[in-house]
Amino acid sequence: MRNKVTVVGGGNVGASCAMNLAFKELADVVLIDVVEGVPQGKGLDMLQSGPIEGYDVHITGANDYEATANSDVVVITAGLARKPGMSRDDLLFANYDVVKSVTEKVAQHSPNAILVLVTNPLDAMCWTAYKTSKFPKHRVIGMAGVLDTARFRTFIAAELNVSIENVTAVVLGGHGDTMVPIVRLSSVSGIPLTELIDQATLDKLVERTRTGGAEIVKYLKTGSAYYAPSAAAVEMVESILKDKKKVLPCAALLEGEYGVNGLFVGVPVKLGSKGIEKIYEIKLTDEEKAMLAKSAAAVEELVSVLKTKGA
Ligand code: 2OP
Repeated sequence: MRNKVTVVGGGNVGASCAMNLAFKELADVVLIDVVEGVPQGKGLDMLQSGPIEGYDVHITGANDYEATANSDVVVITAGLARKPGMSRDDLLFANYDVVKSVTEKVAQHSPNAILVLVTNPLDAMCWTAYKTSKFPKHRVIGMAGVLDTARFRTFIAAELNVSIENVTAVVLGGHGDTMVPIVRLSSVSGIPLTELIDQATLDKLVERTRTGGAEIVKYLKTGSAYYAPSAAAVEMVESILKDKKKVLPCAALLEGEYGVNGLFVGVPVKLGSKGIEKIYEIKLTDEEKAMLAKSAAAVEELVSVLKTKGA
């Protein structure tokens, strides 16, 4: 039997996600959006690319969730995107309402699905989906670290003029300006970054990674990045559906790991058919611990605001 993946949100991130899923023939795809006609039209358009591109999966678009019944994975991209000058946190209230209502319907129609959250502010939206769905924690996962490390890897490879395939990077923490690129554990074919790039340049690459999303928002003016975010979400879906057990940085509910309790924060996890199959706790230096604590505190602030709103 084929896998089924629902993508909620027919905007740039959602549509790119659906397209990438089809290209990789990972599953039959249902694209959902509140705007009548948009998911149907985009879905049909993607379906008609199949004979040209050579992928053979069903892609349908719908406004109601009946079409999503019994999905294996649901990727939630619905919500507002940033405009220039906005932080991801500025989207908190508007996207809380969207993610809550989407999650209620998803949980009703696909009670066994694994949720992959993309909507910002990411870590707080994961918490919202977790609380609303009442799914076990291993089935609620946030996409952030795969994107943030991809950005860091891109900048490192460009700086050194080496293949991105040789660059591995570690980024922990929330998906915001306080994210924590761990330079000490990032390398080029095992060669520590610190032996290849001077400190001042490294600091610049770290800062560019932290503000990587805003850099693109500034160019686009009317929205935020979507090619890399959707590719990142699809890498996670692929690891789940193929039970590849990739170790990827994702937002996961921490219950004591890294000294964090009850919050979603980016950490390395093993992703397989059950969702998050393991959380890896890396030994950090005191400085790294302090940066991670600051990042977790920023996530906690958003969640507390939601709690005071009755969430
Ligand atoms: C970004 O960092 C949209 O959060 C996403 O570009």
